[in-house]
Amino acid sequence: MNQATEAQRFDIAAPSYVRHKKLLEWVAGIAALAKPDRVVWADGSQAEYDRLCQEMVESGTLRRLNAELRPNSYLAWSDPSDVARVEDRTFICSDKAEDAGPTNNWEAPQKMRATLNGLFDGCMRGRTLYVIPFSMGPLGSPIAQIGVELSDSPYVVVNMKLMTRMGKEVFDVLGDDGEFVPCVHSVGMPLVDAHGNRRDDVAWPCNDTKYIVHFPATREIWSFGSGYGGNALLGKKCFALRIASTMGRAQADTDGVGWLAEHMLILGVTSPEGRKYHVAAAFPSACGKTNFAMLIPPQAYKGWKVNTIGDDIAWIKPRTDPSTGRTRLYAINPEAGYFGVAPGTNEHTNYNCMASLRENVIFTNVALTDDGDVWWEGMGEAPAHCLDWQGRDWTPEISREQNRKAAHPNARFTVAADQNPAIDADWDNPSGVAIDAFVFGGRRSNTVPLVTESRSWAEGVYMAATMGSETTAAAAGKQGVVRRDPFAMLPFCGYNMGDYFGHWLGLGEKLEARQADLPRIFCVNWFRTNANGKFIWPGFGENMRVLKWMLERIEGKGEGVEHVLGVTPRYGDIDWTGLEFSREDFAAITSIDVQAWTEELALHSKLFDQLQERLPAVLPQIRDSLRQRLAA
Ligand code: OXD
Ligand code: MN
Repeated sequence: MNQATEAQRFDIAAPSYVRHKKLLEWVAGIAALAKPDRVVWADGSQAEYDRLCQEMVESGTLRRLNAELRPNSYLAWSDPSDVARVEDRTFICSDKAEDAGPTNNWEAPQKMRATLNGLFDGCMRGRTLYVIPFSMGPLGSPIAQIGVELSDSPYVVVNMKLMTRMGKEVFDVLGDDGEFVPCVHSVGMPLVDAHGNRRDDVAWPCNDTKYIVHFPATREIWSFGSGYGGNALLGKKCFALRIASTMGRAQADTDGVGWLAEHMLILGVTSPEGRKYHVAAAFPSACGKTNFAMLIPPQAYKGWKVNTIGDDIAWIKPRTDPSTGRTRLYAINPEAGYFGVAPGTNEHTNYNCMASLRENVIFTNVALTDDGDVWWEGMGEAPAHCLDWQGRDWTPEISREQNRKAAHPNARFTVAADQNPAIDADWDNPSGVAIDAFVFGGRRSNTVPLVTESRSWAEGVYMAATMGSETTAAAAGKQGVVRRDPFAMLPFCGYNMGDYFGHWLGLGEKLEARQADLPRIFCVNWFRTNANGKFIWPGFGENMRVLKWMLERIEGKGEGVEHVLGVTPRYGDIDWTGLEFSREDFAAITSIDVQAWTEELALHSKLFDQLQERLPAVLPQIRDSLRQRLAA
């Protein structure tokens, strides 16, 4: 499982409730390699959380916020070089490069192991190695999977408590020989060098050298050099998406169908008559997923209710209900908390989110107000003075003069899901919820219409596969350029993207052959702009109007017309009660420009060229038929 020498045995101080021999050996091996001062087994208790937060307040990693304004909450400011996921430092080390595919960075496993062994050798000197047991999905659920993260970051321990089912109960499920995904993480800044020289710690230790590495064959994750978000909280993107997506596909080799690990929120929507539907929706990072998952319907939509099951990731498996004989896709949220983008969030754009953030929150890279609370751009009126995310004085004047934001654009909050006032009663249901619709949406200022229903599963897969989005601050790098982001999974698919499309197509085909009730597939775009660059569609709660049209389609009542890409509502097919939205604006956000789509299809071809080795043949066929429809 690791390359550490077994010669140096380390006292890992394992508690008596840990009886898993392989796990104990693995921890001992990593400890022997990384050489921490001590090993601490996280139990997941509140007392442990409080103690670690207090220690981090004393060490300067966290600030305690004003106990009246923001009870039991903390603020962390990261190193300015460590503020987002590092996609160019993320590797899928499958045995063969083709299995990682052209959209992932690949390196030969042996070579990468040698690199990691070098980096991890002594990397925890002077620090504590925490053993963090966690379950993705409800503890003991047949759908859940267990992971154990070894990390030298107490910030990771407390975030993992909020984001996952973390603690010693996991060992009851694991028993003596249960399966777990081993995750190794180091901030990469030892406090003692190989000669015993000690250096002072810093508030946010990290290393300019960064590696986020996945070994799909052995289902291992290794992360070095970053303490931030998805780079360090390894249950999230690394496990629940990259490793889990490979697990879901491998399962197809056994049962012919497999399952899906997707970058999707899950919401429940209930009509005034009490009919309930579930929607899983994929959007690239920072495209308002949290807002959609916590949507509050417009006032005029009396009796409609939206509840959150998950805000970021869905694990989706087929199951036949023995009482009805119906086969459907059921989804769980493997996470137990939200690591959401703060800037732009306010009481109007996302009331439920703000209500979730009243207490028990860890904020990262937002601004600190003079009364000890937090602030970010888009939260409300700017304070006359605050400290920005780098601890510098900030005023609205400074902001204007220096074009300097108070909060980093990728500033985040970490909060337990059960603080969401709109949490769904089934969010923790080990069986999951039956999915009625998949929704795919990118951030496109032009080209892609407000909503399109695909005519078939394969056309839906085509639309999702060719999705493009203008880039945001969630990943390091340039912002605002369109990149293809198939299924919003570009940075998160743990194997060849062509095989991934094949897996989606195959799963649909197999389930259709079994007369399963497959979800409908819709493609949306909330982000079209006018000539002045302003969003035309009001978005947020008003997205309920589009959601309602989708549900009417599912119920067989909704009207629409077929256009080049699929079925779209006409102006009169949307329920506009309580909103003034002109026919002209509707035409502007639903129009299909032949020239723009000709160019768009050429970009699809570019993606297909990139993926040609494993590209399912049906996708270029669908492109050709779209081209013909467009020409007609
Ligand atoms: C996230 C992301 O943090 O997608 O959820 O970047
Ligand atoms: Mn995400």
